[in-house]
Amino acid sequence: MPDILVADDGAIRTIRMNRPDKKNALTLQMYDRMAEAIETASGNKAVRCILIAGAPGAFCAGNDLNDFAAMAQTGGLGTPILRFLHALARSEVPLVAAVSGTAVGVGATMLLHCDHVVAANDAKLSTPFAALGLVPEAASSLIAPRLMGHARAFSLLVMGQPLSAEDAKAAGIVNTVVPAEGFETTARAAAEKIAALPLEAVRIARRLMRGSPDEIVARIDEEAEAFKTRLSSPDAQAAFAAFFSRKR
Ligand code: COA
Repeated sequence: MPDILVADDGAIRTIRMNRPDKKNALTLQMYDRMAEAIETASGNKAVRCILIAGAPGAFCAGNDLNDFAAMAQTGGLGTPILRFLHALARSEVPLVAAVSGTAVGVGATMLLHCDHVVAANDAKLSTPFAALGLVPEAASSLIAPRLMGHARAFSLLVMGQPLSAEDAKAAGIVNTVVPAEGFETTARAAAEKIAALPLEAVRIARRLMRGSPDEIVARIDEEAEAFKTRLSSPDAQAAFAAFFSRKR
């Protein structure tokens, strides 16, 4: 079974992260596949909404830490990561997310690019960047303070304070919190509602509300430069080693 499943059903394209044994930690191949699914939707008027989904209890555990450890050796940041983040920022198609359980790192920050987020009541968002010796990514350093104010964004992005589903709703990231059972049905209904609206009106309204994606893309790239340097820092190396040697 592929790690990313892409399926068009009517006007909705579902992009499902499907690596549940690793809590949907994202590999470079997964980023590429997700980026492609978003990029190709923008030029395809048959796709009127994208639904990003994960597994029950595991939306996404962030970047695969093995890949981060490998990138630290080469000094690069995988091109597919930036491709995916740019695709999110430049998407012309509305993005809906259905989140249950773990949403760590980019699993949480990708939600900042979504237009509508449904969370199961077991959802837990966290971005332990500083604890990992890293810095915020996906333009979260720009979008999160705008959305929730500096103090709450600092607590999330720097102090690594997790957000429950209700916290994330209060912070403006999540629209609706529903019971874990059947949470995707609510997300799909939202996607269908968006898809049923006049396409051009939705796309133009969305563009007006979001402004130019260039600012977001520029911040993604600026963060990526700092991120690359931090990956090979002793702090990050120690954090990766601690994760892989942890006792469970
Ligand atoms: N990269 C690589 N592997 C990961 C991973 C990640 N980001 N997150 C989870 N996994 C793997 C675990 O190593 C484990 O693999 P194994 O069964 O082969 O040992 C499997 O997924 C299940 O994870 P586990 O830790 O046992 O599940 P849990 O429910 O106890 O905890 C998390 C889930 C997500 C809270 C925990 O795995 C975690 O903290 N992961 C790291 C998240 C992270 O720091 N991401 C990067 C942010 S920038």
